[in-house]
Amino acid sequence: MSIALITGANKGIGFETARQLVELGHVVYVGARDVERGERAAATLGARFVELDVTDDALVSRALATIDSVEARLDILVHNAGIQEIGADGPTALRAFDTNVVGIGRVTEAALPLLRKSSNPNVVTVSSSAGSFWAVTNPDRVEFHLTNAVYAASKAAATMLTLQYAKSQQGIRFNALEPGYTATDMTAAFAGGRPAEESARAVVRLATLDADGPTGTFRDDAGDLRW
Ligand SMILES: NC(=O)c1ccc[n+]([C@@H]2O[C@H](COP(=O)([O-])OP(=O)(O)OC[C@H]3O[C@@H](n4cnc5c(N)ncnc54)[C@H](OP(=O)(O)O)[C@@H]3O)[C@@H](O)[C@H]2O)c1
Repeated sequence: MSIALITGANKGIGFETARQLVELGHVVYVGARDVERGERAAATLGARFVELDVTDDALVSRALATIDSVEARLDILVHNAGIQEIGADGPTALRAFDTNVVGIGRVTEAALPLLRKSSNPNVVTVSSSAGSFWAVTNPDRVEFHLTNAVYAASKAAATMLTLQYAKSQQGIRFNALEPGYTATDMTAAFAGGRPAEESARAVVRLATLDADGPTGTFRDDAGDLRW
């Protein structure tokens, strides 16, 4: 049984990831910035709630301190919280990078001491192929045609941050994932998308790697995804 924390787990891919990890018998902390919606999600799932806004240093510290005081370790950390807003003006770009990039650093730094107490620590970043330099320069890929520059740049940075942690933090696996195009509130303005259950299965696979599993990878359903 592992202790897991998922950021932004009150809905979408994060919620489904939490549901599947609970079903596998793990202790799951639903991290959410809205107390009411987070508590409701945790109660629905049989999970625990922890207030966590990834842009708020004090809340991040408090959330990890809570998990430390109850569990004394963390085995699985899923950086799932993310936003996609249209535009590239200063405030919009700062919000995107604060949430999608700096948030990963904030939560990771606060979680490292707890991850070090785990015998099998796994960190998964729910990134995006929109941040793959290979995909956005390949006319055969759908990412080539996407125009949300700030989101793409923030996901490229999220993947890079994950890779750098994999290199610097021996003994903790850090992997980044393109979860697959998914029908969630984030993509509600666009057509299609697969159910969040399917994308969450990919997150759970990476979050439950054995001790000899890979680190420093960027993947999608097809396997290794080019940077
Ligand atoms: N859907 C796709 O096709 C797709 C494709 C590639 C990658 N992704 C990535 O997958 C992840 C999950 O997205 P989704 O599609 O499930 O979208 P979603 O349904 O909009 O869920 C996003 C989650 O992130 C939370 N969040 C946003 N800002 C936060 C903050 N500052 N602190 C804590 N939580 C915060 C949201 O909480 P609130 O409810 O409070 O807003 C929500 O729980 C994101 O990182 C996204 O970039 C999605």
